[in-house]
Amino acid sequence: PKELPLKGKKVVVTAGPTRERIDPVRFLTNFSSGKMGYAMAEAAASLGAETILISGPVSLSPPPNVTLVSVESAKEMLDAVLLHFDTATMVVKTAAVADYKPKEVHSQKMKKQPGESVIVLERTTDILLELGKRKKDQLLIGFAAETNDVIHYAKSKLDKKNADYIIANDVTEEGSGFGTDTNAVTLVGKNIEQYFGHQTKKVLALQLLQTIIQLEKDDAK
Ligand code: PMT
Repeated sequence: PKELPLKGKKVVVTAGPTRERIDPVRFLTNFSSGKMGYAMAEAAASLGAETILISGPVSLSPPPNVTLVSVESAKEMLDAVLLHFDTATMVVKTAAVADYKPKEVHSQKMKKQPGESVIVLERTTDILLELGKRKKDQLLIGFAAETNDVIHYAKSKLDKKNADYIIANDVTEEGSGFGTDTNAVTLVGKNIEQYFGHQTKKVLALQLLQTIIQLEKDDAK
């Protein structure tokens, strides 16, 4: 892009899955590859932003002109995000953060036992909700991966989490969601509900940020 509308602004992007340890050799996670989040970070940097990419474990190289902060668990991601939140202009929460973690992390490898085994889970902190509570003038953009009633859930997340936009991702659609190079999403905000059809995550990321920047400009008028 010729224009650099995010020049002088700090954008924090989270990407990838988190890992919640069970014991030294096992963990709970999900299928996020980090591709969507890395594309959002690349788009932010290409629009001129000082970009901090806070990433769970993925096998991608960071885009150019982005500061990578590697984390493992939801707790580490929360701490890293909070470190940058006060000075951020925009926070984009693309990461698929674990909602639950094992209540007990075993210090030794768990041994096989006869019969069934139970791992008790407890809730992690909802990072987006926490940011929504602390928000001053940061623009807060969440993602929502859903398998049904996508727009309905996105709208309720917008309110509950005090976010400015939710990017709703129907992960049952062919060629969209976890792991793929392409995606299709709906941008949901107070005054907008716009569908973005299938395209590469990189192209989509740029379109989403440019649309949001334009909406905010119009809003400020
Ligand atoms: O990484 P890829 O393979 O490219 O896949 C992209 C994606 C499908 C992961 C991405 O497009 C996406 O939809 N990310 C959000 C996935 C998700 O966890 O959605 P959610 O509905 O569980 O969470 C909603 C929002 O709350 C998200 O912005 C999430 O970052 C945030 N959250 C969730 C749980 C938690 N403990 N803290 C959070 O901040």
